[in-house]
Amino acid sequence: MQTVLASLAVAVSVAAAVPQQLAARDDGPTPITVKGNAFFQGDERFYVRGVDYQPGGSSKLVDPLAEPTTCKRDIKKFTDLGLNTVRVYSVDNTADHDECMNALADANIYVVLDVNTPKYSLNRADPEVSYNDVYLQNVFSTVEMFAQYPNTLAFFSGNEVINDGPSSKAAPYVKAVTRDIRQFLRSRKLRTVPVGYSAADIDTNRLQMAEYMNCGTDDERSDFFAFNDYSWCDPSSFTISGWDEKVKNFTGYGLPLFLSEYGCNTNKRQFQEVSSLYDTKMTPVYSGGLVYEYSEEGSNYGLVKISGDDVTEKPDYTELKNALKKTAPPKGDGNYNSTGGASGCPASSPPNWDVSEDALPEIPAPAKKFMTEGAGKGPGFLGSGSQNKGTQSTATASAGSGSVSGSSETSSSSPSSSTGAAASVRAPEMSFVPLMGSVAVALSTLLGASLVLL
Ligand SMILES: *[C@@H]1O[C@H](CO)[C@@H](O)[C@H](O)[C@H]1NC(C)=O
Ligand SMILES: *[C@@H]1O[C@H](CO)[C@@H](O)[C@H](O)[C@H]1NC(C)=O
Repeated sequence: MQTVLASLAVAVSVAAAVPQQLAARDDGPTPITVKGNAFFQGDERFYVRGVDYQPGGSSKLVDPLAEPTTCKRDIKKFTDLGLNTVRVYSVDNTADHDECMNALADANIYVVLDVNTPKYSLNRADPEVSYNDVYLQNVFSTVEMFAQYPNTLAFFSGNEVINDGPSSKAAPYVKAVTRDIRQFLRSRKLRTVPVGYSAADIDTNRLQMAEYMNCGTDDERSDFFAFNDYSWCDPSSFTISGWDEKVKNFTGYGLPLFLSEYGCNTNKRQFQEVSSLYDTKMTPVYSGGLVYEYSEEGSNYGLVKISGDDVTEKPDYTELKNALKKTAPPKGDGNYNSTGGASGCPASSPPNWDVSEDALPEIPAPAKKFMTEGAGKGPGFLGSGSQNKGTQSTATASAGSGSVSGSSETSSSSPSSSTGAAASVRAPEMSFVPLMGSVAVALSTLLGASLVLL
C-alpha cells in the first residue's frame, strides 16, 4: 500500500511539473530535442542507431506496435543488436499502442513514426487532390496519439513522395503537411515532437529537397531532414562510397540530418559504413541512421526471418550487431553545429527540381477546426482511404500561416528543449519576400477558381 501511495505521489508531482507530458512515466526516457543541427537527449548528443521495423511490409499491413507479444519478442532482438531507435512506416490509429510503446521505453528505445498509411497518404501523381481534410484528420489523429509517448523521437510527414525529378512538383504539398503537423502539435499543446521528411535515394534532387524543407518562414520549416542512402556497398570506404562528398555538400545545413534507410545489399553486407557514420568525420553533419530492415520481406534486406512465432537471425544480423558493438558514438558533442538556421529556397531547375513557387498551399478549410477541436478518432487501417475524398486546398498560404499565436516554440518543459525552429536562430517570419506573397495570392485565386470549377 505504501509503495502504491509513494508512486502515486511521484506521479502527481511529475504531472504537476510537466503539464504537457501527463503520459510520461517518471522513469521514462527523456524526450529527444533539437539544438542546431543535432538531436539531444537532455544535455547529451543523441545519434540514431536503429533499424526499420515493419514485418509484413506494406502489402501485408500489420501494425507492429499494436501486438504486445510480437513487439516484446522483437524488442529483445533490438536490445541484443544495440539499438536505440526503430522506425515504423504505418500504424493503425484505432489500435492501442500503450503496451508496446511502454515496453520500448523500458528498453530505452525510441520510435520514429511515419504518420501515413497506404490508403491515407499524398498521391505524388495528384498531390492537390490528395492533400485534403480527410487525409489530415487521419494524420492528426495518429500524431495526437503518439505525441503523448516520451519515446516518440520524431514524425515523418512523408516517405519518398518524390521519387524522381518530375515528381518534385509534389514538394509544396509535402512541406504543407509538415507545416500542418507542427502547427497541430503547438495548437493542441502537445509535446513538440520533431517533424521532418524522409527522402528517397535520389542524387539529382536530394540537396534541393533538403534546402526546400528548411527554407522560408519559421512555421513552414522542418525540424530535421532524413534521406535513404544505399550508395555504400561493401567492400567500400568513406571516399569510395562518395559519403565524403555528401558530408561536404551538407556542411552548413542547419537541421539534424540522418539516414532513414541504409544498407546496400549488392554484395555480402558487413555494415562497414557503421564505423564511418558514427565517426567525427561524419557526426558534425550526420546524426546516425536506420538500417533497412529488421525482417526479411523477400528482397534480401532482412536481418531476421520471421515465420509464425519463430525469429531466425540471418548472417546480416550478426554483422550489424558486431559493427555496432565495435563503434561507440564519439565522445562529447561530435562537433555538431550549434548555430543551425534556414537555407535559401532552391532555384527551379526542371526536370530535376520542378518547384518554381516558394509559397505553399493553404491548409484545406475544413481541416482548420482540428487545430482547436483536436482530430478525434482516426479511421485506422480499415478506413476507406483519403486520396479522392474531402475538400482540397483552394488558396496559397500567406507567410506565417502555420504559426500559432500565443504559443512559444519551446513549450516543452526541458530547458534544452527547442526544435529546429528555435526562435532565436531562425530568420524572422517577415524575411519572406512580400512581393512573392502577393503574386502567389493572385495566382492562387486563379488556381482556386479553376479547382472549384473542376
Ligand atoms: C555534391 O554536390 C555537387 C554539386 O551540386 C554534385 O554535383 C554532386 O553530385 C554532389 N555529390 C553527392 C555525393 O551528392
Ligand atoms: C553552421 O551553421 C551555419 C548556419 O547554417 C552556417 O552558416 C555555418 O557555416 C555552419 N558552420 C559550419 C562549421 O559548418
